[in-house]
Amino acid sequence: MGDIFDKIRKNPGPLGQYAAVAHGYFAFPKLEGEISNRMKFRGKDVLVWSLNNYLGLANHPEVRQADSEAAQKYGLSLPMGARMMTGESDLHEQLEQELAAFVDKPAGMLLNYGYQGIMSVVDALLGRQDVVVYDAESHACLVDGVRMHLGKRFMFKHNDLESLEKQLKHATGVVEKTGGGILVITEGVFGMAGDQGDLKGIVALKKKYNFRLLVDDAHGVGTMGPRLGGTGQEQGVQDEIDVYFGTFAKSFASIGAFIAGAPEIISFLKYNTRSQIFAKSLPMPLVVGGLKRLELMRDRPEFKENLWRVVRALQQGLKEVGFDLGKTNSPVTPVHLSGGPAEASNLVVDLRENFGIFCSVVLYPVVPKGVIILRLIPTAVHTMEDVQYTIESFAKVREKLAQGAYDKEKYAVELV
Ligand SMILES: Cc1ncc(COP(=O)(O)O)c(C=O)c1O
Repeated sequence: MGDIFDKIRKNPGPLGQYAAVAHGYFAFPKLEGEISNRMKFRGKDVLVWSLNNYLGLANHPEVRQADSEAAQKYGLSLPMGARMMTGESDLHEQLEQELAAFVDKPAGMLLNYGYQGIMSVVDALLGRQDVVVYDAESHACLVDGVRMHLGKRFMFKHNDLESLEKQLKHATGVVEKTGGGILVITEGVFGMAGDQGDLKGIVALKKKYNFRLLVDDAHGVGTMGPRLGGTGQEQGVQDEIDVYFGTFAKSFASIGAFIAGAPEIISFLKYNTRSQIFAKSLPMPLVVGGLKRLELMRDRPEFKENLWRVVRALQQGLKEVGFDLGKTNSPVTPVHLSGGPAEASNLVVDLRENFGIFCSVVLYPVVPKGVIILRLIPTAVHTMEDVQYTIESFAKVREKLAQGAYDKEKYAVELV
């Protein structure tokens, strides 16, 4: 008989195995100071391209004021209990209605955290007789929702309509026997590569196959669409999304999330989503803060204009000097380079320590072996000088990479 903890010693996990060399620098780095384009990392000023603060709302004075006034007025405790029991309020309902209208849906439901919320929504929607068909690059929270499903599940190749159609044929065969339905799951904007889910193409398949569509638009709400109402709005197919999900963790720069859809679906989910029925309601300051953020997004076009001015300048500038940005058609900016993990670490250290640029790095197994992706998130608070400096610096590190400067261990830093 073993000890449940034996495996912890033998196998620290796919990411945990790197803890000794990564902790405090590549993993769990501490960014300090006000949330902005410039923050402090290990005591040094850095230009930050890693925060999903797309619209720059995190530190906007009106947002800070709304948050602090609400904290002063209500405290963090109110309301106590789950929505269904003792945690309901007019302000929760108001935010749900305003969010739904923002994403062109008749009804909405707040979720106290995005991850647990959407995972549990997937669980609530699916019965044993149903089939779920989901994109291969779906976020972990969607995959976890799918893992709870007791019936059949089929994965389609990322954003590949042919593969989706093949899986829809399989799924149709199954539900013809079970009498269940089909739920297709994808994302509005895929957060790593920045490519939009082909919502238009998926929706077109509704003419041929009978299914419902759930879209996780964590990176799309507040960045995409003529009124920032998301990727469905951007592609002109918002009406065909049956369950729309957005989080407050990115453009809204807060905590919490929401879903939106037809009133009958939302009311079913209010009574059947276990992570919400059995967990505390969102605290009042997050709700009041959510209303303020939504007001700014909805009523002040300058946030969208500022974001997209920086996105265009950064992406066009990087392309002009020859960088490959992969398939992005959203603000997410993945810069592709070639090299192994040691070169990638040295390059990132050089960027942080000598160029004062902080960005995230994505390596194998998330991307194929030999590919290094430096992932940049442009925001409304970056300046044209930030963009110019970053393009020039990236061109320099690419040159050094080509010359073998990162082969050696010379940039190794002492990890805390
Ligand atoms: C695509 C996607 N879905 C869901 C989530 C989870 O949202 P939250 O951070 O609100 O739990 C994230 C990450 O924030 C995400 O990137």
